[in-house]
Amino acid sequence: MKYYAAPLEGITGYIYRNAHHKFYPGVDKYFTPFLSPKIKRGMNTKEQKDIAPVNNQGIPLVPQILTNQPDGFLQVAQILGELGYREINFNLGCPSGTVVSKGRGCGFLKDHDALRRFFEEIMDGLDKRGMQSMKISVKTRLGINDPDEILTLMEIFNDYPFSELIIHARLLKDYYKGPVKLEAFREAAAICRHPLCYNGDLFTPEDMKEFRKEFPDIGMVMMGRGLIADPQLCELCQTSDGEAALRDYDRMFLFLQEISDRYAEAFSGEKHVLFKLKELWSYMHVLFPDQPKVWKKIKKANSLMEYHRAIQTINPGGQTPDGV
Ligand SMILES: Cc1cc2nc3c(=O)[nH]c(=O)nc-3n(C[C@H](O)[C@H](O)[C@H](O)COP(=O)(O)O)c2cc1C
Repeated sequence: MKYYAAPLEGITGYIYRNAHHKFYPGVDKYFTPFLSPKIKRGMNTKEQKDIAPVNNQGIPLVPQILTNQPDGFLQVAQILGELGYREINFNLGCPSGTVVSKGRGCGFLKDHDALRRFFEEIMDGLDKRGMQSMKISVKTRLGINDPDEILTLMEIFNDYPFSELIIHARLLKDYYKGPVKLEAFREAAAICRHPLCYNGDLFTPEDMKEFRKEFPDIGMVMMGRGLIADPQLCELCQTSDGEAALRDYDRMFLFLQEISDRYAEAFSGEKHVLFKLKELWSYMHVLFPDQPKVWKKIKKANSLMEYHRAIQTINPGGQTPDGV
C-alpha cells in the first residue's frame, strides 16, 4: 500500500511537511496545497517559497495546480519542470465558494466540454514545450450533485494519459461532511484505466483495515485530516499488519516543538505562530479525548508561553495533572 499525505491549504506548507517528514518518514508522497497561477506573474511569493527545492530537501513532493486556464497551467508547469519536479497534480476537488464560482476546482467538473478542451490544450502544450515526460495526476471529487456523475467523468479521465487519479469520495455539495460514497468510488474503480488512489475519512488504523478489506485491489490511499490529527497515522497503518505498533508521544512532542520553532523563525510576531499552532490543534486535540481541558487551554492561550504551558499539562494516555 502506498500512503499519500493530502494537501491542506493553510496547514501542510513546507514547514509542516519538513517536520512531518523528519519525524514520521514513511509517507510516499506529499502534495502541496494548491498553487493558483496568476496572469503574467505565475506564482506569488508564498507559493514560490512553498515549492522552492531548498525548502523541500529530500521530501517526495508533488506540487498541485488549481486553474481552468491552460496557459496559466503550462506557465507554472514549465517553472516546476525547471525546478526539477517530475509530477504535477491538478486540482478538481476544491469546494470553496470563491473557487467554484470561478469554474475552478470542483466547479470545473460542471463543464465537461471545457474540461476536455483544457486537458487537450495542456497535453498539447506540454508536448510543444518538450515536457512529455512530466507526469500529470488528477485529484477530483465524484461530481457536483449526484454520485453517478463520476461515471461520465471517468470517460473523460480515461481518455488522457494521467499518471494517477485520486478520488475524494464526496460530491461538491457534501463539502467535507457526511459519509463518504464508497459505492460510487467502487463503480469508478471498476472502469478506471489509471492507477487509482482513494481519499476520504481514513482517520484510524482501523479505518484503514476496513478499507483494505472492502477494496483489496486499491494500492494507494491519501490521508488528510486523519494524518493532521495523528501525525503517526501512516506509520501505525503500515505496521498494524505485523508487530504491534506503539504510539510514540515523546516523538509527537518533539515534532510539535520543531513546528513551533520553525514557525517562530518564519513569521514575525507571536500571534501568527500561535494562530498556526491552534489551527493544528483544532485537529490534534482528538488524540486526547479524555483531557478536554488541554484543548480549552490551548484555545485560550494568548502567548506562546501559555501555549507551551498548556501542552505540558498533557498526560499521554492518562489524566491531566489537574485531574481532568
Ligand atoms: C482546511 C483544508 C484545506 C484543504 N486544502 C486542499 C488543497 O489545497 N488542495 C486539495 O486538493 N485538497 C485540499 N483539501 C482537501 C484534502 O486534501 C482532502 O481531500 C480532504 O480533506 C478529504 O480527505 P480526508 O477525509 O482524509 O481529510 C483541504 C481540506 C481541508 C479541510
